[in-house]
Amino acid sequence: MFTEGQLYSPVTEHEDGTVEVHLADTHPGREDPQYLRRRGEIAGAALAWRRGSQEVPTIEYTEQEHAVWSRVSRELAPLHARFAHSEYLTAKERLGLPTDHVPQLAEVTGRLLPLTGWRYVCAPGLVPLRDFYADLGDRTFNSTQYLRHGSQPLYTPEPDIIHEVIGHANQLASPRFAAITEAAGQASLRLESEEAMKLVADVFWFSIEFGVMYEGEDLKAYGAGILSSYGEIQEFAHMEIRDLDVADMGTLNYDITVYQPVLFAARSMGHLEDVVGDFFATVDDDTAAALRSEAVRRGLLPMSSQ
Ligand SMILES: [Fe+2]
Repeated sequence: MFTEGQLYSPVTEHEDGTVEVHLADTHPGREDPQYLRRRGEIAGAALAWRRGSQEVPTIEYTEQEHAVWSRVSRELAPLHARFAHSEYLTAKERLGLPTDHVPQLAEVTGRLLPLTGWRYVCAPGLVPLRDFYADLGDRTFNSTQYLRHGSQPLYTPEPDIIHEVIGHANQLASPRFAAITEAAGQASLRLESEEAMKLVADVFWFSIEFGVMYEGEDLKAYGAGILSSYGEIQEFAHMEIRDLDVADMGTLNYDITVYQPVLFAARSMGHLEDVVGDFFATVDDDTAAALRSEAVRRGLLPMSSQ
């Protein structure tokens, strides 16, 4: 299964109350004690937060963190203008996120709520898959609050606040993307089987995270994973582009830690809503088995998968 959750660095809370974030050996911040301490502080704030009784914690971002946000915002702006689908661009314009400082999640909610009814809450890192989707069904997005390491501002191996907010919040400011995302969350509440849940997560991955869409003759991106990645946004058009197809999206297998080599293109917003939106609206526990049989029949999966 592809889930972004696999990309988050594990977080542990020690008995003395300190919080440690375990970065991979190849992470740019791995040898930086100040960065590691900072990651622990920010994860600790989310761990200490109790939903319902408190405001989402405010992080006092440093000048360096604001500088990373500003740099990425500035570098992504012309790439968005060139490569993002107009549905995303219009939503981004309406949301009007700051580009000169890291917004607090409360500020993101303050902007998003009147537009599409979504709110942002904080997460220390990985949120269990079913909890993450259940919240989507309630128009609530679990977001990390940390920033990538300052030595490589245009790269992150894990979803940071730049991905969560520049990628997802701009997208969720579109009523149409917001409805599709909510439908994925609502679907999770109906599903008991893990296979069906996996199917929803896979289709979500190839649409909301890494979706592309034609606009006239031009292929544009709308997926949050592409639109928050300085590298991927300049490469997606060179990938293998397939038609939207939930049986294919739900059974394709590959590495999530590299640029996505196969992408699925919608012909229009209406086409995306008809295929992916309707899938999320109707998927049930039997759908996964039916799609697996279809994938075998069409040669997308070997016979042994049935
Ligand atoms: Fe994401």
